Amino acid sequence: KGRIGILTAGGDCAGLNAVIAAAVNYGSRLGYEFVGFRRGFEGVLSPMAFQILTHADVRGISHLGGSFLHTTNRGRFGGKKGAGDSNQIPEEILEEARHNLASINVDGLIVIGGDGSLSAALQLAERGVRVIGVPKTIDNDLAATDQTFGFSTALGVAVDALDRVHTTATSHDRVLFVEVMGRHTGWIALKAGLAGGADAILVPEFPFDIDDLVRFLRDRKAEGKGSAVIVVAEGAVVDGKRSYEAGSASEVRFAGVTNRIMHLVEQLAPDEFEMRATVVGHIQRGGTPNARDRNLARAYGVGAIDALERGEDQVMVSLHGQEIITVPMAEAVSRLKAVGQDTLEYSTARKLGVFVH
Ligand code: F6P
Repeated sequence: KGRIGILTAGGDCAGLNAVIAAAVNYGSRLGYEFVGFRRGFEGVLSPMAFQILTHADVRGISHLGGSFLHTTNRGRFGGKKGAGDSNQIPEEILEEARHNLASINVDGLIVIGGDGSLSAALQLAERGVRVIGVPKTIDNDLAATDQTFGFSTALGVAVDALDRVHTTATSHDRVLFVEVMGRHTGWIALKAGLAGGADAILVPEFPFDIDDLVRFLRDRKAEGKGSAVIVVAEGAVVDGKRSYEAGSASEVRFAGVTNRIMHLVEQLAPDEFEMRATVVGHIQRGGTPNARDRNLARAYGVGAIDALERGEDQVMVSLHGQEIITVPMAEAVSRLKAVGQDTLEYSTARKLGVFVH
């Protein structure tokens, strides 16, 4: 019927294997043949790294974290789209990928990725490769779908971290920061913060001044609350500065927005607060996908094959209510979904006295 390539690109997240398994399982039943590329688009470039995938190869992997095909958010296809980064792939790289896919008779490519990887895939599509995208990111910031897979599991991990630090915060009268992922948007921080009873939620969409945070902490102390739990999205903007710059995740990893916040608080209020930080980090992306992510991933895998069956091209599968639909990929990569004043969790948190700014 045709040979379909499949790859996972960008950072890993829970549910990648469930997408692969569902697509290969369903597609094989319909008569497609599958080729899995290793390490995202790197596997499509020379030297090519791929393997034929049969239904037997993908049995029993859906509950496993990571990507059994491996992935990367670096490499010659870029993949990481930071603010101001257009993620333009050099012409010769696109041509090499197109040529390599044609040389092994790939009729269509399923790309499982976030906005950066999908915008890279779109450039390949514009050069004649048939592409179907599957929305993946723990950040849940793609506007063209109700939910990306990987988000729900990440959220659960973040809530668990918050639940756990509460006891130390209270017992020691400390200010405990919990840093979660979210470079450009604060969905994990906001939803986990509200669910996990955070006293302050710091998201990239709502820049804040350190003076206001210190005032908030002092007011709490004056009311007899010596402890506070604060959830920080790694892209939080403090005193007009964003720690995260496009393409330099290492800056965040090595310096950390939370460290900066703690230093600033200490400068302004020396010895007033006993602060500690927990960076949840890649625990949010790794490990077993929860039921919601597994089922969403499976539905996306099946949806990608249905899209191929309908003869679609340059589309991304998308969750719309209870349905999987497809949206033009160009639309899908052009709009990020950000936390706003009208976001339910935001207004709820605000009314409950949480410092959300
Ligand atoms: O885009 C997904 C994401 O998990 C972001 O939330 C985070 O900033 C980034 O990836 C981390 O990337 P890396 O694994 O390269 O540190």
